[in-house]
Amino acid sequence: MTKEALKALLDGMTLEEKAGQLTQCNAGQFIRVDAEITGPEGQPLPADALNRVMGSVLTFENAKQARQLQDMHLAADRNRIPLLLMVDVIHGMKTTYPIPLAMGCSFDDDLLAECAGMARREAAAAGVHVTFNPMVDTARDARWGRILETSSEEPLINGRMGAALVRATQGDDLSDPDNIACCVKHYAAYGAGEAGRDYNAVEISERALRESYLPAYKACVDAGARLVMPSFNALNGIPSVANKWLMNTVLRDEWGFDGVVISDYDAVGELVTHGVAADMKEAACLAMEASCDIDMVKGVYYQHLADLVREGRIPEKALDDAVMRVLELKNDLGLFENPYHGADEEAEKRLNLCPAHREIARRAEEESAVLLKNEGILPLKQNIRNLALIGPFAEEKRLNGFWSRPGAEAYTVTLPEGIRDRMPDLELVIARGCGAELGDTDTDGIAAAAKAARSAEAVVLCLGEPENDSGEGRSRTEVTLPGPQLALAEAVIRANPNTAVVLFNGRPLVLTELEKIAPAILEMWYPGTEAGHALARLLWGDANPCGKLSAGLPRTTGQYPMPYNRTNTGRPKPQPDTGVFPFSSSYLDSPNLPLYSFGYGLSYTSFSYEKLTLDKQSITKNGSLTVTVTVRNTGDRPGKEAVQLYMRDLVASVVRPVQQLIDYKKISLEPGEKKDVVFTVTEKQLRFWDFNCKEISEPGDFELSVGCADHLLLTHRFTLKA
Ligand code: BGC
Repeated sequence: MTKEALKALLDGMTLEEKAGQLTQCNAGQFIRVDAEITGPEGQPLPADALNRVMGSVLTFENAKQARQLQDMHLAADRNRIPLLLMVDVIHGMKTTYPIPLAMGCSFDDDLLAECAGMARREAAAAGVHVTFNPMVDTARDARWGRILETSSEEPLINGRMGAALVRATQGDDLSDPDNIACCVKHYAAYGAGEAGRDYNAVEISERALRESYLPAYKACVDAGARLVMPSFNALNGIPSVANKWLMNTVLRDEWGFDGVVISDYDAVGELVTHGVAADMKEAACLAMEASCDIDMVKGVYYQHLADLVREGRIPEKALDDAVMRVLELKNDLGLFENPYHGADEEAEKRLNLCPAHREIARRAEEESAVLLKNEGILPLKQNIRNLALIGPFAEEKRLNGFWSRPGAEAYTVTLPEGIRDRMPDLELVIARGCGAELGDTDTDGIAAAAKAARSAEAVVLCLGEPENDSGEGRSRTEVTLPGPQLALAEAVIRANPNTAVVLFNGRPLVLTELEKIAPAILEMWYPGTEAGHALARLLWGDANPCGKLSAGLPRTTGQYPMPYNRTNTGRPKPQPDTGVFPFSSSYLDSPNLPLYSFGYGLSYTSFSYEKLTLDKQSITKNGSLTVTVTVRNTGDRPGKEAVQLYMRDLVASVVRPVQQLIDYKKISLEPGEKKDVVFTVTEKQLRFWDFNCKEISEPGDFELSVGCADHLLLTHRFTLKA
């Protein structure tokens, strides 16, 4: 449709119809009750009227439903404006790849893009037009259950992976039925909720916000994300969806975002609960003033926007602008010509869980696993005859994690299945040992598990956190292994020290006690559909672990928030980080440093960092520096290494982090092979937000280092000249 035709369409719409375009309903209501429209949950809206005018629908599962919804609506809408159909396709549609936090550990943007491409193909075939992805909230506190939805505690990784996902999902042309639009979320600083409690208030300086939280969202907007979702939390006193500074000043004016803003689930209505709006009408008014275009699910806009315009509280121009943004998105998706977009039941059959997609998922699962400890236990021997598979996750099917689509566990390759496929002649003894629920104290099965361990050549002990313990609304005060799992580990490892612990969880966990007793620990996170195959290949060394932690693992929950890129104090704790140092910035009962730091992860081979060279000792504002690091595979297996480049600004007008990741590259090395990894450093990477909230760099000395956080191996200095 031409711009003029869109404008003519808009001009012919009633106020009610315009409000409808800005209203999103939940598909559940329609599909459940034989396609009868019942209106948004809890808000009995006139059913026929709503179907006539609503603009978008949230959450459905397949092409058949997508087509039904579209047909039903188009038959009723006199303007014949197609619905936008949106789904949370976060880490896969049918073929599930690892949770975003695990993908962050791959340190591989291209791999993430491959996974996103596969999810996009399956989602497009299911009739999805928009996915509520990527989520790029910086999260530095694992008490917050949604840390699993983000790639990292580091905004550089979140921004790079988010942008890669946007490009792989949207493609160059949204009207291509194989492409769908992205909604970047949750803008902003949702991950910084006080005390790690979900939906909680965020109080943060503008400087810290711009330094550590905003860059990842901006990277996705710059990559072309077509929608943005404001976060649930109040930011410095004002909920994001009504926060004019955040939405209008920063997002629209400063970043030039002209796409669609959609509220989070009922977030407009929740302005009343927050206590910043007296009633729903005022809530609708506040959200519109902060240029929130679509009201998700509760119908607040539908009920009040027309009146607000009639009463002169909202200029009709503001309403028109919002509707036009929605119409333009529909037009760019080609919906006026083809309202079904990619919805195609045949394509669904062909693509969903196809071997090529399973292969991508399996590779991603292997590359995001992090080997935390290994005292010669892994890989297991090829000629092993019997193995005990123990623990509450030994036979678990729910290994996909929050935001996998409903029913995803039905397709998951379990660990026994994966192991039997790899080792058909292996005698496998399985014992659950105990549960993993919070508050579970039943230890009755531990003795039998220890017995099974004793008679096996080796043990794989599968521990973790039940799938439902991380995700939205799932904060914890102690991020330990739930239930009696530690007691199980003690008994099993005592019975058979040839034990590898394998972990399935959605957040960094405190492993301090486990680390003392376990000779090997492999962090699998929630791997997804190919869990069993990926694990078997890792256990027997067909795949070599190469994940690095994209968020550090604490020694104790009390260390949170625990950013790796902390700033120094005037009284830093003397290094090494052992013992008690009175009047230093430290704890009496714990070291400062995490148990496993950001960027850490082992391999079955070993790497040495041999040389770090800079092509010059100083640069000017327009110049650049070439940094070369020589990495050698010193072991006897091929392996991959995420080479990480850190920076430290030695003197600045504000206190700067002691270490800051500024680039990373993943390389493959054959045994004995060495490679030069080259990074280019420019002035832009040396910038920070100063006291007056201006992004600047300051001349002076900087350090560049390689290695991982808290364990920097080689360091070089250079000068930024005025
Ligand atoms: C979540 C969003 C999600 C939305 C729609 C909300 O509860 O916070 O991340 O996109 O629901 O499902």
